[in-house]
Amino acid sequence: MQLEGKAVLVTGAARGMGRATAELAAAEGARVAVADLNIDSAEAVAKGIRDRGGEAVAIGADVGDLGSIDAMVDAALAAFGAIDVLVNNAGITRYAPFMEVTEEDWDSFMRVNAKGSFFTLQRVAREMIERGQGGRIINMASIAAKGFRGTSNAAYASTKGAVVAFTYQASSALAQHNICVNAVCPGPVDTDMSRGVGRQRADAMGRSFEEQLTAGLDSIPLGRMIPPEDVAYMVVFLMGPGGYNITGQTIHVDAGVLMS
Ligand SMILES: NC(=O)c1ccc[n+]([C@@H]2O[C@H](COP(=O)([O-])OP(=O)(O)OC[C@H]3O[C@@H](n4cnc5c(N)ncnc54)[C@H](O)[C@@H]3O)[C@@H](O)[C@H]2O)c1
Repeated sequence: MQLEGKAVLVTGAARGMGRATAELAAAEGARVAVADLNIDSAEAVAKGIRDRGGEAVAIGADVGDLGSIDAMVDAALAAFGAIDVLVNNAGITRYAPFMEVTEEDWDSFMRVNAKGSFFTLQRVAREMIERGQGGRIINMASIAAKGFRGTSNAAYASTKGAVVAFTYQASSALAQHNICVNAVCPGPVDTDMSRGVGRQRADAMGRSFEEQLTAGLDSIPLGRMIPPEDVAYMVVFLMGPGGYNITGQTIHVDAGVLMS
């Protein structure tokens, strides 16, 4: 139980990698705030954790809204008295070739993925600094920020580039407070998001979802989509004793798609 008693806030935790991270952190002894736009699904995840003997609360939140970020952090503090770990995971995208990226894509993805993650980080860091006991912050970026040619959308890749950049800045600013800040850059992970993008891409290319999946697998050296739980292992590692001296890093969990 490497996270015994730690209070962990995970955004976008109603499904996918956020859910897998919340569940693994709880299994390692953490008290988990399951925050998501979809409060019903968040409540189902939190209930599942409680049914297995863990401690969890669900919080409805839109990380694209600063007032909602404040309410989310206040709710997590009310539940647990502190936040030891933030996992900035909520994110959105859709498939579009470069020349078909719209202003709406840019604004909506930036609002959630970049602005939402930045101001959630800033708000939680304020609490961690005031408490004076350090902390861990893990931002969910993507190999899309590192030049992955198969990204869903160039505006999405740009938001993740922002996440990588502010991860470096935050790790530098917060090290004096013993707060470690890192980004995890997943490759193709088998979630509702990637399946949705896969379907949109298949439609755009006039092929079936299965044909699209096969073509996608051909470009992954390990030849498989990554289960969300496998990304959660890395995120939970960074929360625990193994992450004590790791900060300012962007760590790929990508089945070999990128080599650095
Ligand atoms: N799936 C992949 O292949 C992949 C690869 C690299 C990076 N990522 C990133 O990992 C993270 C998780 O991805 P996933 O595949 O698990 O996604 P997902 O779509 O399965 O889950 C995302 C969750 O975020 C929530 N959410 C969306 N907007 C929100 C908002 N404004 N406020 C609060 N919650 C919100 C959704 O309700 C959902 O529960 C995202 O940041 C994504 O960009 C995904």
